Amino acid sequence: MKKYLKTSATLLLLLALSLQLAAQESYKNETPEQKAKRMAWWTDARFGMFIHWGLYALPARHEWVKNYERMTNEQYQKYFEEYNPDLYNPKEWARMAKEAGMKYVVITAKHHEGFCNFDSKFTDYKTTKTRFGRDVLKEFVEAMRAEGLKVGFYYSLIDWHHPDYIIDSRHPQRQESDSAYARLNKGKDMAKYREYMKNQVRELLTNYGEISVIWFDFSFPGKNGKGHDDWDSEGLLKLVRSLQPNIIVDDRLDLKDKDYGWDFQSPEQVKVEKWPEYNGKKAYWETCQTFSGSWGYFRDETSWKSPAQLLELLIESVSKGGNLLLNVGPTARGLFDYRAQERLKAMGDWMKYNSRSIYGCTMAPEEFVAPANTLLTYQANTKRLYVHLLSYPMGNLKLKNMADKVKYIQFLHDASEVRYRTLGNGEENTLSLQLPMLKPPVEIPVLEIVLK
Ligand code: GLC
Repeated sequence: MKKYLKTSATLLLLLALSLQLAAQESYKNETPEQKAKRMAWWTDARFGMFIHWGLYALPARHEWVKNYERMTNEQYQKYFEEYNPDLYNPKEWARMAKEAGMKYVVITAKHHEGFCNFDSKFTDYKTTKTRFGRDVLKEFVEAMRAEGLKVGFYYSLIDWHHPDYIIDSRHPQRQESDSAYARLNKGKDMAKYREYMKNQVRELLTNYGEISVIWFDFSFPGKNGKGHDDWDSEGLLKLVRSLQPNIIVDDRLDLKDKDYGWDFQSPEQVKVEKWPEYNGKKAYWETCQTFSGSWGYFRDETSWKSPAQLLELLIESVSKGGNLLLNVGPTARGLFDYRAQERLKAMGDWMKYNSRSIYGCTMAPEEFVAPANTLLTYQANTKRLYVHLLSYPMGNLKLKNMADKVKYIQFLHDASEVRYRTLGNGEENTLSLQLPMLKPPVEIPVLEIVLK
């Protein structure tokens, strides 16, 4: 009897353990429908803010400055010592993001320099050990949530400060020969660094409430590079999914060949040619973009995009089924640079009247052809097609192959009717729209077409 009880207890324990294991790994068997549900808030949102903020805000000449100038930890230490963003007020940041029309905000918890914006138990290289002394992320998540914004964390896989991180071709102390690498890396133990990352990711996904996005950055497999084995990407992903099952993960863990290894593609600083695909199917995607080139605050950069260019980036992304994550690099005082503020304001002015062509919208069905200098987006629930007039036409605009599909047309910003007629003479099924001669006072005017 006793023996029988013992065996059944063991069996039960085994069953419980395997159930737990199965639950932990269930993300590997997620169906496309389940994924679509998990991704729904994100595909509806379309527009988010990226924030790159760390010690590199002090040199103010690129977040890769430590690498570009091949600085040692000692040389970089002055920034840690001077760090004191006394004007940091994330409520202001949240207000500006929200007013710009953004729905989620992804901030660097740690960038490549290794400095942590949060009170990690596993390092002293963090904001709470500086003169500033505050946990940047803690205040940040509270402020964002108060404005109804979803919060994401960027976490750099690369680390130019951790003593066990093996020096590689992207490191400030990169070398010319194998023997030089061997000499420098003697005694370093990547296993310890992998453990460090897991500990920190656990902190980030346990101590700050619900985290909606995690953005790992980045892999560069090959000689003197690093890929999924160096990071233990599978292990990291498993940890992430077990702590925050609904979280959305980017695609830079070097697990691109696995269905479950990433949630969205992250083309950086490019306009995609067409909706990006994976195994012949349309993929979820988000392009991340800067205002001026660098991600961290760069005082002397003059290559700032105009509001019209930035709006076009947003509309472009939605017109190909993607999101835009637009980056701000706050200053070392903790403020958004005036040029960033101006642009966010301009985008907000447009979004205030035109966001209906962005939120919940996607690529228009193939049957609709965009006239020259326009971008189309489409809202499936309300059956509305949006025509964004990038350069304002003189008087009239032709819409081919549409006469039989249209119920009503108006400008989106003021809901004023746009009259149209159907053309004959070989142009059957083409609509000719009578637009006012004067461009409406909107950066990019939008036509809202109610479909039959
Ligand atoms: C890059 C850069 C980096 C930036 C990131 C954003 O890969 O290394 O500085 O954080 O892209 O996508």
